[in-house]
Amino acid sequence: MQGFSRRDFVRTSVTAGAAAATVVSPTTAQATASSEGRIKVIAISCSHRKGKSTAATLGVCLQAAKELSPRIETELIELAGLNINGCVAAGVPLPPGQQDDFPKLVPTLADPKVRGIIIGTPVYFGNMSSLCRAFLERCIVLYQDKFALSNKVAGVVAVGGTRNGGQEVTIQSVQISLFCNEMILVGNGRPGPRHGATVWSGAEGGVLKDEIGMTTVKALGRRVAEVSLRVAGVS
Ligand SMILES: Cc1cc2nc3c(=O)[nH]c(=O)nc-3n(C[C@H](O)[C@H](O)[C@H](O)COP(=O)(O)O)c2cc1C
Repeated sequence: MQGFSRRDFVRTSVTAGAAAATVVSPTTAQATASSEGRIKVIAISCSHRKGKSTAATLGVCLQAAKELSPRIETELIELAGLNINGCVAAGVPLPPGQQDDFPKLVPTLADPKVRGIIIGTPVYFGNMSSLCRAFLERCIVLYQDKFALSNKVAGVVAVGGTRNGGQEVTIQSVQISLFCNEMILVGNGRPGPRHGATVWSGAEGGVLKDEIGMTTVKALGRRVAEVSLRVAGVS
């Protein structure tokens, strides 16, 4: 990009992104969470299909997070049906007068009380869904200026139609974007700590019957909750 610096790029993207929310600094975020003594862990389902296997999996993950401590509140956000355009992150505006749904998500993402974020994506050809990619690209608006995702804890869930369908590589791909936002990445915790939650939706009866996968999902929920509490200083 000749004559177009990285700073220009980010500034343009943010302007075009028009993320309305006031972004709160990590220091303020930490103080607010600590003073209330309660924190929030949210999960974002990046499946195009509302209420299907990725959403069901994240429900289990959040339940495990909630069960770790009464200080934890949870919320599941499904991106299915939302219009999120990756092009805006690159500074390519939507047609005049049009706005998509990403700015509506910003207040929740930047909320100081939200200390843990779990991203769940279906595996598409060994990688994240296009919806997940667009969402992560648009998070550049949070990265700009105040790094509103900084020091929030993140974990990743990948749901594939086959047992070894690329879940781990998908998790790593999502994690790279989250590292760029200064998030604190955790994998699934004990038993058998690994990269994140790896789930098979092809089991008879669906994801909830994938015993091995559900072990990783619950362990991830607990791990995100545990580290979120510690980072917020309320454990
Ligand atoms: C375009 C496309 C590509 C897919 N590629 C993979 C894949 O590489 N590996 C895999 O295990 N499953 C693959 N799947 C299956 C989905 O990951 C699986 O059905 C998943 O449960 C969908 O999540 P959902 O029920 O939340 O929509 C693919 C599905 C689609 C539509």
